[in-house]
Amino acid sequence: PGSRFAAMTAAARSRLAGSHFRMLNEQLYTTPSSAAVQLFRDAPDQFTAYHAGFARQVADWPINPLDVMVREVGAALKRRMAPSAPTDSAPLVKPSRPVAIYSFDLVSVAPHITACDIASLPLAADSVDVAVFCLALMGTNIVDFLTEALRVLRPGGTLKIAEVVSRFEDMDAFVAAVEQGGCVCVKRDAASNTMFLFLEFRKHTAAEVAAEPKGIPASLALKPCIYKRR
Ligand SMILES: C[S@@+](CC[C@H](N)C(=O)[O-])C[C@H]1O[C@@H](n2cnc3c(N)ncnc32)[C@H](O)[C@@H]1O
Repeated sequence: PGSRFAAMTAAARSRLAGSHFRMLNEQLYTTPSSAAVQLFRDAPDQFTAYHAGFARQVADWPINPLDVMVREVGAALKRRMAPSAPTDSAPLVKPSRPVAIYSFDLVSVAPHITACDIASLPLAADSVDVAVFCLALMGTNIVDFLTEALRVLRPGGTLKIAEVVSRFEDMDAFVAAVEQGGCVCVKRDAASNTMFLFLEFRKHTAAEVAAEPKGIPASLALKPCIYKRR
């Protein structure tokens, strides 16, 4: 009987953790990012609870889009860091240029993560080669996030997005709206799996921009990603 009680307690605790996660998740998708900043500033332990729940969801997915992003960005980095060819007078090869990687989240849980709202990044304009949103377009102000990424990207730089397919009402309209921010869609992969959409945009170079880009329409939105009770 003792072990039955323990099992029932564990099941109740897990159900509670599940509904706590779903409540936080829904909040993050249905409010502007300023509210998310406030939420975790007032109660940082909610961030741990959110990520424990998110990890339980990821464990059930056929693929983890983060692995895809890491693989693709890693391969691009390797190409870019291809060492200079050795010569007789300079036999030691060196990377073509140093690489800096920035990670941003609402709460910093490791030294390499900068706590900030991605609506406003602590980066100079035209300074970044690649920007990645991996399931990170949460909040009702995704236009702010995308506009900010296009600001910090260098001309010709790459914007990568991985999102849950069911969040898109109209993929063509989404792509067209992001392009109005001053970029062109160069890759769209919804075929290799049914759950996630992978998009890649290239920011216009100075020569390609005839005038100031129109800007992403303020009405652009994605549906919230609501997880079902299991
Ligand atoms: C669904 S999780 C995905 C985490 C990770 N990118 C992955 O793919 O495993 C979304 C993450 O975006 C963060 N986030 C949401 N809105 C944000 C904002 N306005 N500024 C910074 N980070 C934000 C959340 O705190 C959370 O860590």
